[in-house]
Amino acid sequence: MPDGRFPMSEIALTTRRLGRTFGTGDRAVRALEGLELEVRRGEVFGLLGHNGAGKTTTVRLLNGVLKPTTGSATVLGLDPQVDGPALRERSGVLTETPALDERLEARETLALFGRIFGLGARAAADRAAALLRDFGLEDRADEPVAAFSKGMKQRLALARTLVHEPELIFLDEPTEGLDPVAAREVHELVRTMTRQQGRTVVLCTHNLVEAQRLCDRVAVLQRGAMVALGTPAELARRLQRGRRVRFTVAVERAAEALAALRAAVGGDAAIDLHAGEDAGTLHLDGAGPEGVAAAVAALVAAEVPVHAVVPQEPSLEDAYFALVERPAEGTVAP
Ligand SMILES: Nc1ncnc2c1ncn2[C@@H]1O[C@H](COP(=O)(O)OP(=O)(O)OP(=O)(O)O)[C@@H](O)[C@H]1O
Ligand SMILES: [Mg+2]
Repeated sequence: MPDGRFPMSEIALTTRRLGRTFGTGDRAVRALEGLELEVRRGEVFGLLGHNGAGKTTTVRLLNGVLKPTTGSATVLGLDPQVDGPALRERSGVLTETPALDERLEARETLALFGRIFGLGARAAADRAAALLRDFGLEDRADEPVAAFSKGMKQRLALARTLVHEPELIFLDEPTEGLDPVAAREVHELVRTMTRQQGRTVVLCTHNLVEAQRLCDRVAVLQRGAMVALGTPAELARRLQRGRRVRFTVAVERAAEALAALRAAVGGDAAIDLHAGEDAGTLHLDGAGPEGVAAAVAALVAAEVPVHAVVPQEPSLEDAYFALVERPAEGTVAP
């Protein structure tokens, strides 16, 4: 639970018709168009989208390093265009490719940033020590960054965004290129930063598992437009055509089971029935409780041994692909 260090139940940032076009005429690229967003304090807000969807552009507009061509943003009560320096004192950014000075030691890296943000030598050293401990880098603190693995460098880069105790952090693809163990470590650290410390996080990712694990709410961007907004569970529910139920039957009777299910529920246009990837599994999509009951009855009547009937949780991945494959259907109302 948040310890209330930063005020909760307030708005961390809003955008009004925020947009950015690069270039002009035939060469113009609309990186972001008409973004209307509200991020609450203390939440992990995901910006999800394919390469080129506009995630990094959004972050750069929100922290004032890029000028919008339309609309505006208010971030921590400030206009990023006018109050960029003040905003950057209260926010931190992990960019897509964080630059670390390979010659510096981890401790020096953090202490130097502390000094840049106005801490005295003693305070900067204390802050560096605390972060090295929190980020599991204590043992290697006095080695140059050049000797670090990619995962360690990413943890150090993440620690560096926290040197000045920012209220709001932008993380642009924080686990890109990390192995699953290192990625999980980063996930734990992001959780600590928000759940225990009450910071707000805006997280760009194209990793659906990451979005589902970490984000309270997600905006899905596609070619610069927001096509969906909601909690991962809401998006998954709204976009999946009913639930999927997986049947596992005796492998040698699978074809027979499929035929029996077809006869029982195949006439219902809302229901999709097909064999799963694993031998002996059958997927029933879009069936309500009656459909599932009819399917089970049909298998029992056909005397097919049923080993399991398991309802599947809809995933954000299903929702995401449903959305990006059907762009013409437009925005899903929140
Ligand atoms: N400085 C720039 N000059 C010209 N075009 C740009 C610039 N920055 C971004 N773009 C274009 O804007 C669009 C959105 O890019 P952006 O970097 O925001 O996408 P992204 O969602 O972060 O993608 P990725 O997942 O690849 O990081 C792309 O078509 C990109 O080529
Ligand atoms: Mg990007």
